[in-house]
Amino acid sequence: MNEITLKANAKINLSLDVVGKFDDGYHSLKTIMLEIPLFDIVTVEKTPSEIALSSSLSRLPLGEKNTARRAAVKFFEMAGLSGGARIHIEKNIPVGSGLGGGSADAAAVLSGLNKVYGEPLSKTALLAAALEIGADVPFCLTGGACLATGRGEELTPLAPMPPAFIVLAKPNFSVSTRRVFQGLSLEQIKTRPDTRGMLKALENGDLVGISVRLYNVLEGVTAKMHQEIEQYKDIFLDSGAIGSVMSGSGPSVFGIFKNGAPAKKAGEKLSEITSEVFVLKV
Ligand code: C5P
Repeated sequence: MNEITLKANAKINLSLDVVGKFDDGYHSLKTIMLEIPLFDIVTVEKTPSEIALSSSLSRLPLGEKNTARRAAVKFFEMAGLSGGARIHIEKNIPVGSGLGGGSADAAAVLSGLNKVYGEPLSKTALLAAALEIGADVPFCLTGGACLATGRGEELTPLAPMPPAFIVLAKPNFSVSTRRVFQGLSLEQIKTRPDTRGMLKALENGDLVGISVRLYNVLEGVTAKMHQEIEQYKDIFLDSGAIGSVMSGSGPSVFGIFKNGAPAKKAGEKLSEITSEVFVLKV
């Protein structure tokens, strides 16, 4: 096999707590992550040398900082191979949105290259490579629903999300994850997510129990910089969402609905103020 095409799914954080800080400045998390059916399509082809990267989105930076390129470099380094790769990303996940698009692409490149090169890396080695690319990449390799702790690499698989409609909206701006984390003062966190209650609700397939517990300690930091976060949440809740919260460091906000009709209506309302809106059935 010389070529493989993979789906690179986005994620949302049903809850996100920051519980400490490591010496290198990274934060220690306790977050419940969920893979969602919004995905980039990543094609990885084995070539004799060099890494050639292309994308359907002309404004996507393809240089050394690109997570897919970094994942390919890391793969060859860890596998001790001297080959190359042609990588193409069909971009559907909004960029800089808190939905883990760059991380999903990196995870797809790691597993795609491992497949076309005959699996030189074990699952454990792939997860280690993933963490070096970014905190969300190990989850993107794993998928499903997981409790993620540490920097995001300690993963406990959870029961799947009960059937629901999830509507996502990304405001027309992006935020820097680094800046949002820098803006968080651990001592000033007054409210935290009920992670234990959320885990129980997931275990019981209790959609209302999950939706009323949506909480993200980073939301306040991003919302202070951008009033749109509150505005979007209000639109979701006014449209009949059971709960609504910002994902990751933002600025995407999502709402959870039991039924399709109000979900669709919320999507239409939000489409009047932003171009990137997705109504998903999970
Ligand atoms: O790992 P990733 O590239 O997604 O992280 C981007 C930035 O977010 C990091 O440089 C760091 O400033 C911050 N971050 C953090 N703690 C985490 C994950 C990310 O402080 N667990």
